[in-house]
Amino acid sequence: MSQAPATFSLTNLATLVTNDPAQGDGSPLGLIENAALVVEDGHIAWVGPTGEAPAADETVDAGGRAAVPGFVDSHSHLLYAGDRTQEFNARMSGRPYTAGGIRTTVQATREASDAELAATLKAHLAEMAAQGTTTVETKSGYGLTAEHEARALRVAAEAGVAEVTYLGAHIVPPEYAADPDGYTALVAGEMLDACAPHARWVDVFCEEGAFDEDQSRAILTAGRAKGLVPRVHANQLTHGPGVRLAVELEAASADHCTHLNSADIDALAQGSTVATLLPGCEFSTRAVYPDARRLLDAGVTVALSTDCNPGSSYTSSMPFCIAVAVREMNMTPDEALWAATAGGARALRRTDVGRLSPGARADLALLDAPSHVHLSYRPGVPLVSDVWQRGVRRA
Ligand code: NIG
Ligand code: FE
Repeated sequence: MSQAPATFSLTNLATLVTNDPAQGDGSPLGLIENAALVVEDGHIAWVGPTGEAPAADETVDAGGRAAVPGFVDSHSHLLYAGDRTQEFNARMSGRPYTAGGIRTTVQATREASDAELAATLKAHLAEMAAQGTTTVETKSGYGLTAEHEARALRVAAEAGVAEVTYLGAHIVPPEYAADPDGYTALVAGEMLDACAPHARWVDVFCEEGAFDEDQSRAILTAGRAKGLVPRVHANQLTHGPGVRLAVELEAASADHCTHLNSADIDALAQGSTVATLLPGCEFSTRAVYPDARRLLDAGVTVALSTDCNPGSSYTSSMPFCIAVAVREMNMTPDEALWAATAGGARALRRTDVGRLSPGARADLALLDAPSHVHLSYRPGVPLVSDVWQRGVRRA
């Protein structure tokens, strides 16, 4: 990264997505055409028509390209080691996805050194940044002992991951197969004590074959008592209690939301929990996509995220997820862009990212295209040409 000038302006933007309805066209995206923005000390100081931009120390002419808020990837699993290519290959030959594959990664992760874990994490963070992601959440969940979970979270914090989640309740590890309640007690007790200082969030995979409603509630409430905020892997593989539990506990987010009934949708619409949809997962497991349209039409706040992990969704690309969400989940290009930026920020309870209006962090992506719509109109094309984080341009 290079040194940022105290102020700089980005001018001649065909489209600027601010995600501030008080700006531009007044839509949820707050679109400004022929726009400029000014950055001061790593934050947005001004947005408006390019002809009215105040002077700055340095000016970058965007040449008619579009700028969008940096993507906020609110759900990933980057603290892992090992490879699951074979499992993916088998799946593409007709084998179903099951949570059991997680155990393969647990074994490899336990065997990996701290340096190996950190290197894998950093490689994926770099991939994400190059594709326009400027805020990342990542989780433990492949260590499943107090020691291995805590060291994964330490590695994340040391690498500068902004949002760190404790997921000791990813699956019951083989050594506790005969005593799942004993493992639940460990996750809600000694393991939580070791992990809570290193995390902001507590997550549970609430699913048949993982953790049931009572176990999930016990872990999430214990985490909450230690100052962590709940988020839940909910209703991914089957219909279950996860979404309603997330709403009941005022979790920041219920993630996956693939198998929902009307009561789940009503609960989400009435509560404060964001529904985080992970289309890379359905894509890579050949599963049915969540009904984004029904959620949006019911007034639920929807976020999009990659779920980047070696098992169910091995993509780090938010532009890919946007394109799939538009094509396969009936989201409009505007809704998908909002969900991948402002929606992710809501899912992480952040007000400083996911928007480009005065006071926000200067986290943005410049597209080699005149509009954000091209992210879904031109799937698979690497359109992100430049990325700024806190006003510093990525080298
Ligand atoms: O979000 N659902 C649980 N966890 C991950 C998958 C992890 C894996 O397969 O390794 C998910 O899809
Ligand atoms: Fe996940």
